[in-house]
Amino acid sequence: MRSFRNVLVTGGAGFIGGNFVHYLFRRAGGFTGRVIVLDALTYAGNASSLADVERDFPDRYAFVRADICDADAVRRVFAEYDIDAVVHFAAESHVDRSILGPEAFVRTNVMGTFNLLEAARSAWGFGSGKPREGTLFHHVSTDEVYGSLGPTGYFTEDTPYDPRSPYSASKASSDHLAFAYHHTYGLPVTLSNCSNNYGPYHFPEKLIPLMILNILEGKPLPVYGDGKNVRDWLYVEDHCDAIWRILTAGSVGRKYNVGGENEVENIRIVNTLIDVVSAKAGLDPEKVRSTISYVADRPGHDRRYAIDCSRIKKELGWSQSVSFDEGIDRTVEWYLRNMDWVAGIKSGEYTKWIERNYDNR
Ligand code: NAD
Ligand code: DAU
Repeated sequence: MRSFRNVLVTGGAGFIGGNFVHYLFRRAGGFTGRVIVLDALTYAGNASSLADVERDFPDRYAFVRADICDADAVRRVFAEYDIDAVVHFAAESHVDRSILGPEAFVRTNVMGTFNLLEAARSAWGFGSGKPREGTLFHHVSTDEVYGSLGPTGYFTEDTPYDPRSPYSASKASSDHLAFAYHHTYGLPVTLSNCSNNYGPYHFPEKLIPLMILNILEGKPLPVYGDGKNVRDWLYVEDHCDAIWRILTAGSVGRKYNVGGENEVENIRIVNTLIDVVSAKAGLDPEKVRSTISYVADRPGHDRRYAIDCSRIKKELGWSQSVSFDEGIDRTVEWYLRNMDWVAGIKSGEYTKWIERNYDNR
C-alpha cells in the first residue's frame, strides 16, 4: 500500500473534489497526511463546502485559491507544501456550457492539466536528475471520452476514444497528456474514467440537483429530446472510494473504469425524483409530473453510456456500496437539509463569503 504525506487535490471545492476531501478526512482508512486544496473558485467551486474540514482539521488542511493555468502559482504550491501526490479533479465539467463556450474547456482541461503535469515533473525530477520516489499523479477523467453507445455494449479500458463534445474532447486530450508524461518522462500516473456521479454538493446545473430544486420551487422540469438517453449513475462516495483504492494500490501507468452498473433513462430519473421529493416535501406528485417539459435536445447529445468496471473490481477489490434508491434518498435529504448551501449559491451570499475568506490571501 502506498501512503502520502501531502496530497494536492485540485478542484477540491467542486462537487466530486469536495466529496473526496471529506472522504480523505472521515473515511479513508489509515490516512494521516495533509490535504492541500488548490481551486480557482469558478462559478462551480464553493469553498464553504469545506468549512467543516477547515474547522475540524486546521493542522492537516490548507486551501490555496489559484488557477491551474497559472504555472508559477502551481509550482509554488508544489514547493511550499512538499506535495507527494496529486489528485486532479479541477476542470470545466458541464457539457452544455462546453457547447456554448468551448474555449474555457480547452484552457482549463487541456492547458491546466499540462501545467500541473509540468509542475509535477519538475518538482519530482522526472525527465531530468534523480526522480523522487513515492510520488503519484492521479488524473480524474470521465466515461464521456469513449463516445456514445447504442442499445448494447459497454465501455472497457480498451475502448478507443471517440469524444463528441468540446467537454469530452478536452478531457480526452488531458488523458492523453497524462499518459504521455508517464510514457515519455516516467512520471508515475494513474487514471480513472468514471460514469455520472450524484450526491451532496452537486452544482444545480446538472440533471439531478437541477430537478430536485426545480421540483421544490415549482419550476418546469426540462427534459432534453425524448428523455430516453441513458446514463450509468454512481453515488459520489463510491467514486471517492475507487479513487482512494487506485491512489493507494493501483498499478502505475494503468487506467481504471469506474461505474455504477446502474443504467437509467433520464425520464425515469425525473419521475423517480418527482416521487421521492414530493413524498418528503408534501407535494402532489401528479401535479409536479405535469410540469415535465420536453425541450430541444442537446446538440450532439450522446445516447447511452455504460461502463464495464470489472478491472477495478477484480484488481483492487472495489465495488459499489450504495444502491440507486439509497443514493437518491440520501441526496434528496441532503438538499432538503442544506437549502442554505443552495441559497448561498443563488443569492450571491457565497461570493461575499469568498471575498471575506479568500480574496485577500
Ligand atoms: P465541478 O464543476 O463541480 O468542480 C470543478 C472544480 O474545479 C470547481 O471547484 C472549480 O472551481 C475548479 N476549477 C475549474 N477551473 C479551474 C481552474 N482553471 N483552476 C483551478 N480550479 C478550477 O466538477 P465535478 O463534477 O466535481 O468534476 C470533477 C472532475 O471529475 C472533473 O475533472 C470531471 O471531468 C470529472 N468527472 C465528473 C463526473 C461527474 O459526474 N460530475 C464523472 C466523471 C468524471
Ligand atoms: O458521464 C460522466 C459525465 O457526467 C461527467 O464527465 C460530466 O462532468 C457530468 O456533467 C455528467 O455529464 P452529463 O452530460 O451526462 O450530465 P448532465 O447532468 O448535464 O446530464 C445528464 C443527462 O440529462 C444528459 O443526457 C442530459 C440530460 N439533461 C440534463 C439537464 C441539465 C436533461 O434532460 N435536462 C437537463 O436540464
